[in-house]
Amino acid sequence: MSDTPGAQWNAGDTEADAKSHLLSPSEEMAKLGQSMRPLIAYGEGIHVVDAHGRRIIDGPAGMWCTQIGYGRKEIADAVSAQALKLSYNSPWYTTNSPSAELARRIAEVTPGDLNRVFFTTGGSTAVDSALRFTEFYNNVLGRPEKKHIIVRREGYHGSTSLTAACSGRSFNWQNFDIASPRITFISSPNIRQAPGLSEAQFLDQLVREFEDTIAKIGSDKVAAFLAEPLLASGGVIIPPKGYHARIKAVCEEHDIIYISDEVVTAFGRCGEWFASEKVFGVVPDIITFAKGVTSGYVPLGGFAVSERLIAKVSGENAKGSYYSNGYTYSSHPVSCAAALANMDVIEKDGILEHVRDVAVHFAEGLRSLKGLPHVADIRVEGLVGCVECLVDPSSPEVTDRDKKLGGRIDTHCFDLGLLVRPLGNICVLSPPLIITKAEIDQMIGILRQGILKAAADLKEPVAA
Ligand SMILES: Cc1ncc(COP(=O)(O)O)c(C=O)c1O
Repeated sequence: MSDTPGAQWNAGDTEADAKSHLLSPSEEMAKLGQSMRPLIAYGEGIHVVDAHGRRIIDGPAGMWCTQIGYGRKEIADAVSAQALKLSYNSPWYTTNSPSAELARRIAEVTPGDLNRVFFTTGGSTAVDSALRFTEFYNNVLGRPEKKHIIVRREGYHGSTSLTAACSGRSFNWQNFDIASPRITFISSPNIRQAPGLSEAQFLDQLVREFEDTIAKIGSDKVAAFLAEPLLASGGVIIPPKGYHARIKAVCEEHDIIYISDEVVTAFGRCGEWFASEKVFGVVPDIITFAKGVTSGYVPLGGFAVSERLIAKVSGENAKGSYYSNGYTYSSHPVSCAAALANMDVIEKDGILEHVRDVAVHFAEGLRSLKGLPHVADIRVEGLVGCVECLVDPSSPEVTDRDKKLGGRIDTHCFDLGLLVRPLGNICVLSPPLIITKAEIDQMIGILRQGILKAAADLKEPVAA
């Protein structure tokens, strides 16, 4: 590895340092200091290269974020130039040029009148800040009772106290004090959980449940509905057609703010800058974004809010208020410069058009896995998709055996050169957006082999 980008780094030292000192997200505490996650040395295009020099396709695009792939000089140059020019300024009492330009460019591609942009440090802080905006908004409007938030089971919105409390994946709740009386969960729009219903019947049932929930809480108490266009970390759950528009209509009826959490879907994942309107048919009041805004090169997130909402709490309606939510690193000049360069690359390379083109091939490839042993469901939209595997594909329940089966598939795929996001029994693929049709074939081919190998393993008992 002498002339590779990872050559200067010593894998043995890294392993010792990590085992002794790192605490990582989702750390299995029983194994703290003993086990080591795969050590990634460097990235190139759609591949990452591990400490042994093995090239692996980055199936999940990091954490759904490495849109334009690894090693792009345009981003490195923009980061370097901005760090030398102005590495930091306080957003609390000064402004910088990259953040102002980025706010304008994002406003140009958001739906409707979502023209005011607030920058944060990532996805959790984006959603947290958007929710805090709704709190601020209702307080300024003199409606302190209108604070309740409605969210869905299986949704994921982040890891601050408030966004964790809005996340409906029970796994993330273990040993944390998360429940909040301000937050109510409604059903996941996962049709697999409604056997016997048609898509239209299921949609009617979901809308009725939403209306009933509002009636029960009292519409004068409900501030916001928070939803991902598709539930990504919840297992790539795609709601029935028309779901978002129907729910938005109910929100409008009750003066409830509709927040679309596009932390995963924005910046090209579904072939559009933002997916809410063009892919899912809804113009929200607020959209959150992060991840793909910088293709993961540096941290950044934010939200865009409608002029309609802003007008009600600014100017002569401000009542002396300050939106005093914020971070030392809000509007960070280096992050915003990276995001501007990222948007340039997406435009220059025609990446949105490319995604729309290869997404058809990706969907066909994933659907070709139907009929393999243990494949229970395949869900796909744009360049995000999953294969849900169950030991007994007709079972409505997911068991520990199913999760172990999923783990087996992930391990086989890794050995064969494909990183698959470990998500229980669900194999998620959401590759860098620059992936070619030939690389998609390679990725699907490896997943096929991984499923077949895991199926063969199942003939022997799945190890604990
Ligand atoms: C839909 C959604 N919202 C928010 C977040 C939180 O983003 P971050 O991890 O950048 O804080 C995530 C992370 O995966 C997400 O998928």
